[in-house]
Amino acid sequence: MTLFDIIFTGSEQALEACKSVVEQTIKEYGENEKVSFPNTAYSLPTIYAATGQKIGTLADLKGAIGVIESLIVKEQNLEKALNAGLATAVVAEVIEACKYVGGKNPYEEPCVGFIPDTVIRSMGVPLVTGDIPGVAVVIGEAPTAEDAAKIIKDYQSKGILVTLVGKIIDQAIESKVKMGLEFRVVPLGYDVTSVTHIVSFAIRAALIFGNIKPGDLPELLKYTKERVPAFVNALGPLSELVVSAGAGAIALGFPVITDQDVQEVPMNLIVQKDYDKLVQTSLEARGIKIKITEIPIPVGFAPAFEGERVRKDDMFAEFGGGRTTAWELVRKRDLSEVEDHKIELIGPDIDTLGPDGGKLPLAIIVDVAGKNMQEDFEPVMERRIHYFTNYTEGVMHIGQRDIAWIRISKSAYEAGFRLKHIGEVLYAKMLDEFGSIADRVQVTIITDKEKVEELLEEVARPRYEARDARLAGLTDESVDTFYSCLLCQSFAPAHVCIVTPERLGLCGAVSWLDAKATYELDSTGPCQPIVKGECEDEVKGSWESINKRVAEQSHGATTKVNIYTIMEDPMTSCGCFECICGIMPEANGVIIVNREYHGMTPLGMTFGELASTTGGGVQTPGFMGHGRQFITSKKFLYADGGLARVVWMPKELKEALKEKLIERGKEIGIENFYDMIADEEVGVEPDAVVEFLTKVGHPALSMDPMF
Ligand code: SF4
Ligand code: NI
Ligand code: NI
Repeated sequence: MTLFDIIFTGSEQALEACKSVVEQTIKEYGENEKVSFPNTAYSLPTIYAATGQKIGTLADLKGAIGVIESLIVKEQNLEKALNAGLATAVVAEVIEACKYVGGKNPYEEPCVGFIPDTVIRSMGVPLVTGDIPGVAVVIGEAPTAEDAAKIIKDYQSKGILVTLVGKIIDQAIESKVKMGLEFRVVPLGYDVTSVTHIVSFAIRAALIFGNIKPGDLPELLKYTKERVPAFVNALGPLSELVVSAGAGAIALGFPVITDQDVQEVPMNLIVQKDYDKLVQTSLEARGIKIKITEIPIPVGFAPAFEGERVRKDDMFAEFGGGRTTAWELVRKRDLSEVEDHKIELIGPDIDTLGPDGGKLPLAIIVDVAGKNMQEDFEPVMERRIHYFTNYTEGVMHIGQRDIAWIRISKSAYEAGFRLKHIGEVLYAKMLDEFGSIADRVQVTIITDKEKVEELLEEVARPRYEARDARLAGLTDESVDTFYSCLLCQSFAPAHVCIVTPERLGLCGAVSWLDAKATYELDSTGPCQPIVKGECEDEVKGSWESINKRVAEQSHGATTKVNIYTIMEDPMTSCGCFECICGIMPEANGVIIVNREYHGMTPLGMTFGELASTTGGGVQTPGFMGHGRQFITSKKFLYADGGLARVVWMPKELKEALKEKLIERGKEIGIENFYDMIADEEVGVEPDAVVEFLTKVGHPALSMDPMF
């Protein structure tokens, strides 16, 4: 059989299986039964993206079988073979969708099955920054559990998101690979068809971030090929079905690397039988470059360890968290005051704690010198301490400044991890990420109680306070430069964020100071200064300079942006916004919903549904994606009535911002504004919300009409 024949055979098998599954499901539930995946606005994503058709019921699904059939044309050429592969991909989606019919929850731990939209959105930033440099899909079975673990961990240590399909999941369990989204190892399911869940991840990325029009298959395939850095490892015996699914992956632009004998297709279907080289070959095939910094520590170091928790039972040493004093500080110093790579420990190390470990006070001071170093960069670099220590295997970091809380696990201690290794990590990573700012870095770690407390009062606190004063004084009026951020353009090609002191990027991760530092680090990088020039409209927030930049960088897609209003030419959204704000006409105000909230909102749409109409770099008056911290900014809806317009928020978001909401409420002259904001406990029915607002006398009700 030729490779093409194998693919066609696989696609036909898939089609037959699909027909019988759909028939069976209809028999059981009837044609009118609804079919959808949970927590997505794009159901069923593959069919919707490829054809523009939304599947609602089993009858629709039956209708889609014709589309699949039409994709299988058995001619001996690559194009037809790839189409047949796409047919198999669609089949996989149909079969998986049937598993969810009747409100069933077909997947059990550790398998995740369908991936909700919100997870994809949360991956936006790490994928564009290269923090997640790629997505591996490992299907099948490695020769041994050890081989499987080695491959998975190798990907994991490089920050690659690894998804698993088939028996490899059992091999990962057997070799105790830590799994879950936080470890970037995600078991999808045991059936080959569960691979659809990562395919639909890629496809929804195109819809969410790329603003690809459903039904535009050529653009969709172009997007996944150019912008989604995924690839497939097919391990163990290959059935015709797996080969044809592989052809589907190739059609999407994802190369397939296998350990089996097959006819190779240059760049796309590659044989690699040496398991030690599999990872390397795969990364090269997809053009993924990994930046590695070798850090001399006895434990692993990778972004994949960020989510790792050190629980009480696994803990050897603890610092801060209310139990001891602990703080951290990055400070700018003169070149003469910093000795590069000096790492000093003042006070006892953790091996003095005895066999059961214990707690110690802690101060971490990172001194940075360099001719481009500015005091403004101190908080930006200081916040990275959190990430860098967390990326260390067996080390957990929470908080910041003088509320830092660090735990070191028993296994890290047993592996030889000591406090100076924290210094090694910080030294290496600060230079690595801030190379053009930092010429010299030295780290001082103090555990001597008296000294920790003395320096907190004398050195750290005054520095924190000075910074806060500077931040408070940082307003849009007080600076002459804003920044544009284009990081998300690798996903959302038409999106441009405008970052100002009072409006951070909508991902919540890029403040004006961050943007400034990013520009300083790389003057041709994603953040570029906009010299403000003359303001055209101070209320709506309109500047000629901004419009010019946005028009240029969105390639003409957007020509006018007002940064202080939601009503007229609001800023575009890429898709990775922390919150969405949208008008609630009945209340003459707006609601805000955060990405983590899965429930319904008073607009009759969930976060995901609202997000699906707001992302992709388009302007949607009346709706806007934004960062959490923007809500309590003076510039939030500045032209539309400000914070007083906010009538509803999920409880969790409200709680998280409580102090700031109360404070900002007082500033706008409303003593108990916090209590006037409705949440899901008040209700998600517009009537219930309005009734509540009326009862508490919410200001929005008597403000100028929004329209
Ligand atoms: Fe993306 Fe905007 Fe955040 Fe930049 S600031 S990373 S463009 S969301
Ligand atoms: Ni960690
Ligand atoms: Ni984004």
